[in-house]
Amino acid sequence: MAVNDPLHVNESGLPLNAIEWLETHHRSKAPEREQMIRDIHFKHGSYVVDAGCGPGLWTPLLARAIGYRGRILGVDISPEALVTAYRRMHGKRYERIVKYKRSMLEQLPVPSGSVDLIFSANVSQYLPEPVTTFAAMGRNLVPGGRLVIKDIDFGTMRFHNIDSGLQARVFQARERWEQLRVDAGFSFEDSWVGFKRKATALCDIFHFLKIFVSTYKA
Ligand SMILES: C[S@@+](CC[C@H](N)C(=O)[O-])C[C@H]1O[C@@H](n2cnc3c(N)ncnc32)[C@H](O)[C@@H]1O
Repeated sequence: MAVNDPLHVNESGLPLNAIEWLETHHRSKAPEREQMIRDIHFKHGSYVVDAGCGPGLWTPLLARAIGYRGRILGVDISPEALVTAYRRMHGKRYERIVKYKRSMLEQLPVPSGSVDLIFSANVSQYLPEPVTTFAAMGRNLVPGGRLVIKDIDFGTMRFHNIDSGLQARVFQARERWEQLRVDAGFSFEDSWVGFKRKATALCDIFHFLKIFVSTYKA
């Protein structure tokens, strides 16, 4: 991710990954996040991998959705986030269905064909090869399993209540700025490409059967 002056970094220097910031953000988005989970229509008893689980903020929502016969494996590269996730879940009623493991998303520590649903929230922007990484997770799913990716799509961002001409000029300026950064040797700010396009690539190139896109207020 190309950022000159990163904000809220975690111990690995990733921007917008600091635990306190993630917690504040999670609280401010609680209604939308609960709605997202409802819209996924989890099957009770599912085995779910939370890929890039961070400090485990989604765990209670996932646990409620799959019930006490389900299982959750949260995977992340950040030890600090995993310790926080463990502390958050320790002593809760759903503790016995949750495990956390340090691992890269590029090599999920689960056997082929074993997972009902892989859930990944706000991680795609940090992956050098997001489409390839998510596509490779297909092999970890049971037949008919699902990969659910939640992320910001800056490419579809709209400002409320300003005229469309001004919106267009803002986005053109953003594209020009991006090009300048690339010309200056920074890596391309991938999140601005538009997540829909990445998701469509998953479907077309890597043979996921169906793709559904839902949008939620940021
Ligand atoms: C913005 S946080 C999102 C955390 C959580 N999913 C949430 O929505 O609150 C991104 C997380 O992805 C993790 N991450 C980034 N790249 C990763 C990789 N290649 N493998 C595993 N985890 C990764 C970071 O350590 C961080 O915890």
